[in-house]
Amino acid sequence: LFRSRRWVQSIPSFPHLNTVTEQDLAHFSKILPPTSILSTLPPRATPTDDLATYNVDWMGKYHGQANTVLRPRTTQQVSEIIKYCASQRIGIVPQGGNTGLVGGSISLQKEVVLNLGAMNNVRSFDPVSGILVADAGCILESLSNYIAPYNHVMPIDLGAKGSCQIGGNISTNAGGLRLLRYGSLHGTVLGLEVVLPDGTILDQLSTLRKDNTGYDLKQLFIGGEGTLGVVTGVSILTPPAPQASNNIFLALPHFKNILPLFQVVKRQLGEIMSAFEYIDRTAYDMALEHGLGPILDVDEVGDAQCFVLVETSGGNQDHDLEKLNNLLEHLMSADEPLIYTGTLSQSPSQFASIWALREGLTECVQKEGKPYKYDVSVPLANFQSVVDAVRERMISKGLYGDDGISKVMGYGHIGDGNLHLNVIAKHGYRPELEAALEPFIYELVASHKGSVSAEHGIGAMKAHALHYSKSDVSIEWMRKIKQVFDPLNIMNPGKVLP
Ligand code: FAD
Ligand code: MLT
Ligand code: ZN
Repeated sequence: LFRSRRWVQSIPSFPHLNTVTEQDLAHFSKILPPTSILSTLPPRATPTDDLATYNVDWMGKYHGQANTVLRPRTTQQVSEIIKYCASQRIGIVPQGGNTGLVGGSISLQKEVVLNLGAMNNVRSFDPVSGILVADAGCILESLSNYIAPYNHVMPIDLGAKGSCQIGGNISTNAGGLRLLRYGSLHGTVLGLEVVLPDGTILDQLSTLRKDNTGYDLKQLFIGGEGTLGVVTGVSILTPPAPQASNNIFLALPHFKNILPLFQVVKRQLGEIMSAFEYIDRTAYDMALEHGLGPILDVDEVGDAQCFVLVETSGGNQDHDLEKLNNLLEHLMSADEPLIYTGTLSQSPSQFASIWALREGLTECVQKEGKPYKYDVSVPLANFQSVVDAVRERMISKGLYGDDGISKVMGYGHIGDGNLHLNVIAKHGYRPELEAALEPFIYELVASHKGSVSAEHGIGAMKAHALHYSKSDVSIEWMRKIKQVFDPLNIMNPGKVLP
């Protein structure tokens, strides 16, 4: 892990934990069928390459060491595996779709990887209430497809929908593109089934909208990043599909127009506004270079500094289109227009290509080189200045350019105050690049009273930076909670808590 990084010394070691042995493997074989076990140990001796996808994260930044990957099919199997691991002091890394961006799903030493991908059945769906109960390993997009014929949508959507799992979404408390409309998973998740670090099955798979019977334990696992238990089942409230969905894409001359624009759009669109997304000029140009868009006429875009995608989800197409057309007219005809130009999608395919540009940014960044990704909350007014400050710092350190940091850009969820600051190292991660970026960025975020993780979580990447956003008292109580659930510290060790 953290290969060729200055953090090599800070890879946590786990002297309290044991590595999986052949005897352990023999025991796992009593719980799981052979097809559910991958191990480099004899007698299975699976080639290391077959474990590779489980031992590296989506970015290719975190390289794990697990010699064994287990893919249970039932909650009971998860329980038996964990009970055994607890008895043998074997560390466990819960893994969903492995799309996380903070190294949380990768084994730091030789903890066993418990991949939930084979637990992928829908347990029930009630089209009247919209309550969906599913295994944690269901892929988000599959769940969307499952409920689509009933005219329901998942309350969460993100670019990784084709690979990430609902259990992973819940464990990271993922935000994504619909948070502005449907709120966070802390509100939409009604119940969870979790296997605790001693193997006990905690059945809180409630389908009740209201339940004030004491402490709401499930909330601890939402955003728990697999450090308190393994989520095996999920009950989630899915809203009815909007009857009319539209989007507009706007080019702004200056970043300073964003706040007034946000106000105008909110006022004019009111209840039908469902997303307000931000893309800075560097990110937009990058997307175009990678074949996304163009959405807007090049001449009309001119020297626009940034772009905004606004989505509406309403109940009446004519009504919504009238509002959107009025908005565009108002924006273009003002004495000092807040935008250079804008377009309203005219067809489902245009609607999709506007979203494709926004959702495709993560993959474009990945193709540009090796990204340092900082997912932060800062006041909206500071989005641009934070990005500029980081670029200027790299220039001042002589680290900006094709042999160092080739691009610094910002995009994100304006409506949620969530900036994705992406810093691209064209030719790979280097300790001096990271040393220039950190803790500089964390200090900058803290100076704005922001959060060092808005939606991606802490994982392995930011455990040492937790204190920039959490007080000592908060961290102490987080430790106490961890101690209560996982006194042996076997569950995703080295993640979240420093
Ligand atoms: P993994 O990556 O496998 O795991 C993530 C963490 O959750 C790890 O700590 C793991 O141990 C734990 N975990 C996973 N499953 C379980 C379980 N069943 N029980 C207990 N712990 C578990 N994130 C956003 O918030 N918003 C976005 O808009 C967004 N867009 C993305 C776009 C792309 C292209 C990519 C690659 C990533 C994006 N992400 C986004 C990050 C990522 O997709 C989310 O964090 C997602 O929720 C992770 O789900 P996963 O199943 O891949 O989990
Ligand atoms: C996004 O909003 O696109 C995601 O959180 C992923 C990213 O930060 O690149
Ligand atoms: Zn995001």
